[in-house]
Amino acid sequence: MMQPVLFVAEVYDVESQKKKKKSIRSPLFYVGDKYKLMPQLKKLFPNDIDTYYDVFCGGGSASINVNAKKIVMNDVDEKIIELHEHLQIASKDIDYFIEKMYNLIKKYGLSLSEKGTTTEIEELKKIYIKTYFSNYNKDAYLRLRNDYNKDQSNIDFLYLLLVYGFNHMIRFNRQGKFNLPVGNVDWNKNVTAALKNYSSWYNNNEVTLSSGMDFEKFVESIELTSNDFLYFDPPYLITFSDYNKLWSEKDERRLYSVLDRLDRKGIKWGLSNMLSHKGKQNDILFEWSKNYREYKIESNYISRFDNTIKKDSKEIYVTNYYN
Ligand SMILES: C[S@@+](CC[C@H](N)C(=O)[O-])C[C@H]1O[C@@H](n2cnc3c(N)ncnc32)[C@H](O)[C@@H]1O
Repeated sequence: MMQPVLFVAEVYDVESQKKKKKSIRSPLFYVGDKYKLMPQLKKLFPNDIDTYYDVFCGGGSASINVNAKKIVMNDVDEKIIELHEHLQIASKDIDYFIEKMYNLIKKYGLSLSEKGTTTEIEELKKIYIKTYFSNYNKDAYLRLRNDYNKDQSNIDFLYLLLVYGFNHMIRFNRQGKFNLPVGNVDWNKNVTAALKNYSSWYNNNEVTLSSGMDFEKFVESIELTSNDFLYFDPPYLITFSDYNKLWSEKDERRLYSVLDRLDRKGIKWGLSNMLSHKGKQNDILFEWSKNYREYKIESNYISRFDNTIKKDSKEIYVTNYYN
């Protein structure tokens, strides 16, 4: 397994970063996030948005990078909503939160490469070229995971598990226990920068979180006007991700009828999706998207299995408006 690379701006003034057209990465480092695609997508978003709805917000990369008067985030995954809520409360004093995390890292004996590496890690690097962090952190991570599973109300623990876990994923088993193994990642300067960026974004924007709803219920629950915009980034039917387990052809068709209904009401939306991937085509999307405008997006699709960029994928953005 290759070590995932984190790309994060080290400047905390997110508004000036946005003006410079740099993408800000969410501290939730979500699999399938839109961080790298945001410069392309933002050009296609409406110019003037009153309320922006991130219907499948995941890690929130799209929300962090959008320009809108108000931002509303939704995801069906309650753990995702819980983490955003936690980070938003922490944003009031992000330095205090970061200090608290450093103390936890120390308490559990996890590595903290932001502050430099130890001789033990340097030795491990020689033996385990690509897995030195996971070798170093394995036992500490399992202790942390065990403690979180005993009392899941501690969201600091969940955030640390996400930072140190395999591919920064969030995964629970059927019994509701967090079961992701340790990853070859640790707390480096990018994590701190991403947290400061998130806090700066949250403190400078009007951001609301939903209670965590299925997309259809969420759309039905909001009052929309013609200057609002909804962004849909659902699980992709033809690729593999943990959250794709939640997604079926039935959901795909349900989503398109929600989008058709919004279109009939004159509400603007944009949809990200994958039209073809590894010889597979999403036929439902192919037929339905003929009714709207379709843009090809230069994709950075990365497989959770080998982290290599898949060049045989066609990622698209579909809209019902002209800019
Ligand atoms: C492709 S990810 C979104 C990534 C996000 N745009 C980002 O940049 O991090 C899809 C998300 O849809 C959520 N999801 C799956 N089924 C859903 C449903 N029925 N309603 C709402 N959200 C759902 C998953 O939990 C996942 O977070």
